[in-house]
Amino acid sequence: MNDVIFLIGYRGVGKTTLGQRLADRLGFTFLDTDQLICERKGKPVRERVKEGGWKEFRRCEEDVLAELSSKAGSVIATGGGAILHRQIWRKLREEAAIIWLTADRDVLCERIAGDSSTNAMRPSLTGKGVCEELEDVLTKREPLYGETSHFKIDTGKMNVEDAIKRIMVELSFPSGKKE
Ligand code: S3P
Repeated sequence: MNDVIFLIGYRGVGKTTLGQRLADRLGFTFLDTDQLICERKGKPVRERVKEGGWKEFRRCEEDVLAELSSKAGSVIATGGGAILHRQIWRKLREEAAIIWLTADRDVLCERIAGDSSTNAMRPSLTGKGVCEELEDVLTKREPLYGETSHFKIDTGKMNVEDAIKRIMVELSFPSGKKE
């Protein structure tokens, strides 16, 4: 049974929604790498990237991730691009449970475009529109999510409650509480 759980996956897969509910169920702390990054500078991702560029954002993301492996009793939602820090995931994979959340591309496209936090938290990665960008970026990242995760859940086909049940079974949590 792991007591550090990372949720990985592309934008819009439901890492924050599921993560908060899962943390509540387990009596764990919920953490979100984007929130931690923003708190460090007091600015949303879009402003941060506008001022410092993606390179600076990724550097901060890497620092935040490296600090999180020791946060026992936590569910951690990570930004979609956090998977790019490959070296760190090799270590995290040995110490924590890593769950890849996925959904079909048309579902993601619709969710991202319709999510009120997209404007502040998801500046364009490529200069393309949401759906075209998703095709390009997700194609490159999918193998990384796959090799890093212990198992995956399709949030387009499973509701939050069923996803939580599946995770509890996969991670051998016998009841709703941390053992
Ligand atoms: C990013 C995803 C975002 C946020 C930033 C970069 C990415 O997080 O970290 O905009 O590279 O895919 P969410 O996956 O929570 O939207």
